Order: sequence, then C-alpha cells, then structure tokens
Amino acid sequence: MAQDAQLAGLGTRRLRIALPEPSISYEQDSEWCLVEHADGWREIRFHDYAEIYSIEGLYEQLFYDILKCNSPRTVCSLLKAELTRAGANPGELRVLDLGAGNGLMGEELVGAGVASVVGVDIIPEAREAALRDRPGVYADFHILDMTALSEQQRAELRGHRFTALTCVAALGFDDIPPAAFRGAFNVVDDGGWVAFTIKDSFLSDQDSSGFAGLIKNAISDGRLEIRSSQHYQHRLATTGEPLHYQAIIGRKVADLPD
Ligand SMILES: C[S@@+](CC[C@H](N)C(=O)[O-])C[C@H]1O[C@@H](n2cnc3c(N)ncnc32)[C@H](O)[C@@H]1O
Repeated sequence: MAQDAQLAGLGTRRLRIALPEPSISYEQDSEWCLVEHADGWREIRFHDYAEIYSIEGLYEQLFYDILKCNSPRTVCSLLKAELTRAGANPGELRVLDLGAGNGLMGEELVGAGVASVVGVDIIPEAREAALRDRPGVYADFHILDMTALSEQQRAELRGHRFTALTCVAALGFDDIPPAAFRGAFNVVDDGGWVAFTIKDSFLSDQDSSGFAGLIKNAISDGRLEIRSSQHYQHRLATTGEPLHYQAIIGRKVADLPD
C-alpha cells in the first residue's frame, strides 16, 4: 500500500482512502482499498457493496472522485440522445433500475426528467444507502433476487408498467447474472427502452459468463433492437489503467426465453 489517501471528498465528508501499489494488478472483482475508521484502517474489497454503502460517501469518493467512474453519466446521455432521435420524451419513461446501489443512476435519470424510477438491488444496504444519500429519487426500491421472483413479486414489478430498464456497472462478475438480467428485461413492457453497460470481455467470443450468448441471441431473435452502443472508459483500475465497457441502448421487442 503506497498511494496515499486521495481526499477529494463529496460535500463536507472526506474519508481517508488508500489504494494498493499501482504496480500490482488485481482482477476487477478482487480490487480493494483501505479506509480509515475511528478504530484504524480497514481493508474493504470493491465488490463488498454492503460494507461500502454502510460508510456514507465512500462509494462516490472511491469510484467517482478517485477512479473516475463515468458510467451513469455516459448511459444517461446516450439514452437521452436516442430518445431525442426517436422523438420520444424522457417524461414518458417509468424506469426499472436494476442493481441500483445507492442511487447514482437513479439520480441521473431523475435529472433527465423521467417520470419515475424504481430501484432493485439484492442487498438491503443498497436501499438504505439510496434512501440516506438520495432521498426522493426512487419512487420505490425493492430488495429481491431477480433470478427467483415469486409470483407476487413479479406481479408487483409488472404493476409498475415499466417503459425502460437500466442496469449500470452491475452485470457480470459475482454481481448480476444473465438470468437476473433476463428476469428484469421480461418485466418491462414490450417497446420499452433498455440501457445497460457491460465489460467488453463479457461480450467477446471467449465469454463464459453467458452474457455474450444472451445478448447476441436477443438481437438475432429480434427480441432486442439495438439503437446505439459506445465503447467507453468505465473507470480506472487501481493500477491507473482504464477499464473499458460497452454502453448499449436498445428497445425491447419481446420477452427473452428461459
Ligand atoms: C457497482 S454497483 C452499481 C450501482 C449503480 N448502478 C451505479 O452505477 O452506481 C453494483 C450493484 O449491483 C448489485 N447487485 C449485485 N448482484 C445483484 C443481483 N443479483 N440482483 C440485483 N442487484 C445486484 C450490487 O448489490 C450493487 O449494488
């Protein structure tokens, strides 16, 4: 651990955060940092979202200020461009935000003028953090597992009559699996907008996560119509190297099969 704390904090709260040696490269789902607490420095893995959300401001300071995450802004502006091209109004969108976390994408969407955003995440700490950090952004926030929806949960989600699905920085690794993405896609009304980001490697011919097949089949079967895609820098790794993702905007034509 060498790179000393970078203290570009949000608002008034400034945490002391230290990153590993930039010369040491970690797999994206093994990256970690140290965060100073009243009782000393604590090691936190980047994918331990429950712990990260429990410390107010840590997610923003770590991923946005230090590691320059650009995903919610990129997806939101691409979505807005496609809405404009289609002559559609953001005010028509009732959005399901899958893997909503503490609400950064929801905040972008509300800023863009959507009618409503409902968050879904698998951990209760996300909902608690979204309510704490961005009260009023989400019309509703469900904690559930999209791969195992009960009939009641499915009916409740369908009751929102979603006209858009967003899923930002949450697909793959040990996060959202293909089956959860499919479950969310299938509770959105036909014709709804679909906006998501995914790491390049999950769309490659070598992909073993199942995402490349799911997305390619959805397109070739005519169930997902792609409107635009952009290769962009999602964030920096702790080495300082850029991590590249694809931002994809499309329209749902029909449900995805199991
Ligand atoms: C990197 S965060 C992204 C949060 C937010 N979308 C953003 O852009 O800031 C990934 C989120 O996906 C959530 N997640 C992981 N697996 C999930 C699953 N199976 N279903 C729903 N959410 C999941 C995590 O709990 C975490 O809050």
